[in-house]
Amino acid sequence: MTNDFQREITRRRTLAIISHPDAGKTTLTEKLLLYSGAIRSAGNVMVGKHKATVSDWMAIEQQRGISVSSSAARVEYDDYILNILDTPGHQDFSEDTYRTLMAVDCAIMLLDAGKGVQEQTIKLFKVCRDRGIPIITFINKMDRPALDPFELLDNVEKVLNITAVPMTWPVGDGQDFRGVYERQDKLFHFFERTTGGMFKAPMRLADIHDEHIRASLGEKAHAKLIEDLEMVEVVLPHFSQDDFFAERITPVFFGSAITNFGVENFLQSLIDLAPVPQGMNASTGVIAPDSDFFSGFMYKMQANMNKSHRDRIAFFRVVSGKFERGMTAKHFRSGKEVKLNYPFQIFGQDREIIDEAFPGDVIGLSNPGVFRVGDVLSTGTDFTIPQFPRFAPEIYAKVIPKNGSFSKSFRKGVEQLGEEGVVQIFGDMHGSPIPLIAAVGELQLQVFQSRMESEYNEIITLERLPFTRTRWLGGDVMPASSTLTYALDEQGRKVVLFRSDWEMNYHLEQNKGLVLLEKPPEEVQA
Ligand code: G4P
Repeated sequence: MTNDFQREITRRRTLAIISHPDAGKTTLTEKLLLYSGAIRSAGNVMVGKHKATVSDWMAIEQQRGISVSSSAARVEYDDYILNILDTPGHQDFSEDTYRTLMAVDCAIMLLDAGKGVQEQTIKLFKVCRDRGIPIITFINKMDRPALDPFELLDNVEKVLNITAVPMTWPVGDGQDFRGVYERQDKLFHFFERTTGGMFKAPMRLADIHDEHIRASLGEKAHAKLIEDLEMVEVVLPHFSQDDFFAERITPVFFGSAITNFGVENFLQSLIDLAPVPQGMNASTGVIAPDSDFFSGFMYKMQANMNKSHRDRIAFFRVVSGKFERGMTAKHFRSGKEVKLNYPFQIFGQDREIIDEAFPGDVIGLSNPGVFRVGDVLSTGTDFTIPQFPRFAPEIYAKVIPKNGSFSKSFRKGVEQLGEEGVVQIFGDMHGSPIPLIAAVGELQLQVFQSRMESEYNEIITLERLPFTRTRWLGGDVMPASSTLTYALDEQGRKVVLFRSDWEMNYHLEQNKGLVLLEKPPEEVQA
C-alpha cells in the first residue's frame, strides 16, 4: 500500500452523534459543518432547523420536528475528513440507529447540561458499549441554567458506569457562561457577549488570574472558578487513550452549540481523539482497512431521498481498499458482479458524484433492488458480517389499499419501504396480495402510511393484528396446532406469529423438538 493511501485512511474519522431528542444533535451537526467547507454561508443554517437544515429533510420529520431518517455529513477541517452519520432521533427508529452505529468507529454522546443523562441516551450508550466503540461526551446548552459540572460528571458515571474525564471545564453557565478552560493546554477560550447578543471570537488566555477574566466574571464567580479548577486537578482523573479506546472512560467537553461556544475546539479534539477507520469483524476474521482489496457493507437503505431522483439509495461504508468510480465488485449474497458507476456523496437533499473513496467513507449507491441492509461488496475475500442487528417486531398490521387495487405503485411502495427498513414486510402464506407489516415502534407505522401516500400516491388502511412476536423455524418439527398464523419473510422463509410469550412457550412445551429462532436460521449460523 502506498503512503498516499495510508494517509487517506489516517486523515479520516467516522462518527455518529447519540442523544436524547432535543439535546441539540441537529444544531451541533450544523455547527460542526460550519467549520468545514461544506456549508459556506452561515446564514443557511442559522435560520432554524426546519427551514434550511442539512440533515433533516423528509416531510414527516418537518411536520413533527423529529429526525427519523439517517443521512451522512462530511466535515472537512484542517486536512482531516470527518464523516458524521446522522442517527434518527426518535426511539421508534432505534433499529435504524443501531445499524448506523455498525458503520462508525466512535460516537459523540450529546447531553443537555440542564438534564444530564436521559432515557434514550442510556439505550444508545448500551449499543455503543456492546459494539465496543469509544464514546466522547459533549455537554451542550451551557448558555442555559445548567446542573453543576461536578454533578453532571457524577451523573454520567453513576447512570452509565463509565468514568467521565473532563477535557474542558465550563466557565459559568446560563447568562454567565463565558467559555471553556482546556485542561491539557491550560488555556481559556474566553467569550464576550456583544450588545446584540452575539459573541466575539474567543480570546485564548493562559492565565486564570487574568484581570480581564476577573473583571468579566466578577470577584465571587472568579474565586469559585479558581477553586473548582484546583479541585478538578486534584480529584478528577486524567485522560488516557488506552482507557478511552477500552471504554473505561469518556472524555467530556462542555459547550453551547447554538452560540458556537466550545464547538471549534471540540472539533479539533474529535480529530485528535477519535480513532482512525477501524477494521471490520467479519465471518472470516478482521478485515483491515489497508487490505489490498476493496470492501464494505450497506448499513442503510433509503427510497425517494430526492423527489427529482426518485430512486433507492444504499448507504455504504467503505471498510478496506480504495473505491474507484466505475469499478466492479462482487455482491456476495446474490453472487453477482456489480459495476459501481454512479457513487455519490449525500448531503441533505443534494448529491455529488464522487470518483474515489477510502476506508471510513460513506458513499451512496443506487440500489437496483438487489441490495439489502448488511450486504457486503468486495473485490477480494468473500465475507459476511455476523452481528448485523435485526430487531424483533412487536406491532403488526395488514396493509389494505383504500381503493381496493393492489396496483403496481402499491406493490412498489411496500417493497421499497420494506427494503429501506421503515417497517418489516411479511407475505401471506396462501398467496393473498395483502401484505403484513411489522414494526418495533408505533411511529414506524405512521411514517409508512404517510410515505405510501406522499411518495407512491397510495392511500392505505392499516388493520391492526394482535401479534407481538415473530419466530423462524429452526428445525424440521412443526407446531401441531392448526390455529397458529404463519407468514413469509422477505426471502420467502416461513415464520410463525405469536400473540404473546405465553402462547409461544405453550407451543414449545407442547411440541418436543420445536426450535423457534429470533433470526432466520442462516443468520444464526453465520
Ligand atoms: P435534536 O436534533 O437533538 O433533537 O436537537 P436540536 O438541534 O433540534 O435542538 C433542540 C432545541 O434546542 C432547538 O430549539 C435548538 O435551537 C436548541 N438548542 C440546541 N443547542 C442549544 C444550545 O447550545 N443552547 C440553547 N439554549 N439551545 C440549544 P427549538 O426551540 O426546539 O427549535 P428551533 O426552532 O430553535 O430550531
